[in-house]
Amino acid sequence: LLRSQNHDRTNSMGINFADDNTLKALAAQLDQYTGPWQATALVPGAQPTGTAVTVTNPADRRQQVGSWTPADAATVERALANAVAAQPGWNATPAAGRAAILEKAAELLEAQTAKYMALCTAEAGKSLPDGIAEVREAVDFLRYYAMQAREKFADVALPGPTGESNVLQLHGRGVFVCISPWNFPLAIFLGQVAAALAAGNSVIAKPAEQTTLIGFEAVKLLHEAGIPADVLQYLPGDGATVGAALTADARVAGVAFTGSTETARAINRAMAARDAAIGVLIAETGGQNALIADSSSLPEQLVKDAIGSAFTSAGQRCSAARVLFVQEDIADKVMTMLAGAMAELKVGNPALLATDVGPVIDADALAILDAHAKRMDAEARLIAAAPLDADAANGSFFAPRAYELGSLAQLQREVFGPVLHVIRFKGDQLQAVIDQINATGYGLTLGVHSRVDSTIEHISRSINVGNVYINRNQIGAVVGVQPFGGQGLSGTGPKAGGPHYLTRFTTEKTVTVNT
Ligand code: SER
Repeated sequence: LLRSQNHDRTNSMGINFADDNTLKALAAQLDQYTGPWQATALVPGAQPTGTAVTVTNPADRRQQVGSWTPADAATVERALANAVAAQPGWNATPAAGRAAILEKAAELLEAQTAKYMALCTAEAGKSLPDGIAEVREAVDFLRYYAMQAREKFADVALPGPTGESNVLQLHGRGVFVCISPWNFPLAIFLGQVAAALAAGNSVIAKPAEQTTLIGFEAVKLLHEAGIPADVLQYLPGDGATVGAALTADARVAGVAFTGSTETARAINRAMAARDAAIGVLIAETGGQNALIADSSSLPEQLVKDAIGSAFTSAGQRCSAARVLFVQEDIADKVMTMLAGAMAELKVGNPALLATDVGPVIDADALAILDAHAKRMDAEARLIAAAPLDADAANGSFFAPRAYELGSLAQLQREVFGPVLHVIRFKGDQLQAVIDQINATGYGLTLGVHSRVDSTIEHISRSINVGNVYINRNQIGAVVGVQPFGGQGLSGTGPKAGGPHYLTRFTTEKTVTVNT
C-alpha cells in the first residue's frame, strides 16, 4: 500500500534557469549581496569575547567574505542555561503554533533565495545550481517538519475499558544540540534545527567552522519568523571546545549530528559518559557509495549519471558515488566514454552558470585530495583528469579524476571530493561485488544501472544501504519524496525528510484518566 505523505504540502519550485529574463533578474539580485558578512554567537545575556576569524572565498582565497567570532566558554554556559529555562514554554506552545513559525520562516527564506545563494557561493564555494538546490531543500525541510508536527502532535486516543480514557502524547525531549556540516550549510543546518524545534525542543545550533556566516543569517531569519531568541541559540566555534562542551553536558537531552563517523562515535562516547539520562544521538555520517552497472546498462545514461553522482558539488556530498563497479563486457567502452565526458567538464568559478564543478571547501580538503591523487597515481590507472580553468589558480580547486582500481581494498576510507574509482567485475561476480560493498560496513547510497528486472530486484534486496537509486543518479534526495540517510557506519537513522524523523526528537507520554 502506497500512502502519500505530501497531501497538504508541495516542495519549493526554485528558479527556472532556462528563462533568460529570470536569469538576468537573478544576476542583478546576486550582485546586491557581496558582504562583508559577520557572525557571532546569538545567546541572550552573553557578552561574547574573542578574536574574529577571517572567512575567505574557497574559489579565490584573496577575497575576504567576512569574519566570525568563536563562542567562548562563558557563552556556551549561558546558552545551556537559557535553553533549559526556555524549553518548557516552547514545549507548551501548541504544535500548530510552532509549525506556523517554521512555515513563516520558509516563506521568508524563499523570498530571500538570492541572498542565500550568494552566501552559499561566497562562503562554501557552491555553484549556482547547487545554491538554489540548497535553498529549496532548506525551505522544504521547514515546511515538511511543520506539516509533520501538525499531524503527529495531535493526541492519539487509544481504545480502553469503559470508564477510562487513554491518550498518547508527544513532547519535546528538552535541549537539543544540532551540529551541522559545511557541505549543506543551509539545508542540513536548517533541517536539523527545524525538526528539533517542531518537536518542542529548545535548540543550540553549532555550525561547521567553515560555514558560520550562512548559519548566522539562517538563525536570524528564524528569529525574525518568530522563534524566541532563547529557544534557538547560535554557537559558532570549533568542535574540540564548543562541540565537546555541549555534548558532554548533562543538560543536553539529544544531539543531531551530520559529519564524520569518527566524530559521531566521539559524541556517542561523550554522551554515554555523562552522569545523566541516556541521551539521543541522531547521526548522519560517511559512506563508501557504490554504483553497480551490469552489461545490460545503457552506457550513455550510465556515464551521465556516474559523472553527475561523482562530481556534482565537487563530490562533496555524502551521497556521492565513489566506486563504479562495471561489468567487464562494457567496461572499456564505459571508461572511454567517461574520459571523453570528463574532458568537457568546466571546473572553475562557481559564480558562473557555465561552471560544472566549483572549488572544494578549503586548503585542508584540497591537501587530502592531492595526497589521495598522488597515491592513486602510483597504485591505480588514471582513466581521466578533467581540465582546470586558468582562473582557478587562487582557489582550492581539485579537477575531477577517475581511476581504475584492481580492488575495493585499495580504498581504506571515504574520499570526500570529485574522485571516481572504477572496478571491473565478471558476470559471475555480482554477488561478490554486493558482499564487498556490504562488508565495508557503510550503507548510505547505492546506484544500480541495469535493464534486467531480476538483477535490480536482487541487488536492491541484498544491499545494506539507506538509499538505492536505479537507472538514475544517486544524489539529491528530495524532502518527503526520498527520505535520506544510511545505516551501519553511515548513520543511526531515522531518515531526514522522512515520516519517522521528527518522532526521534520527542518523548512519548501516555495519560490515563479514570472517568
Ligand atoms: N541529501 C544529500 C543528497 O541526497 C546528501 O547529503 O545528495
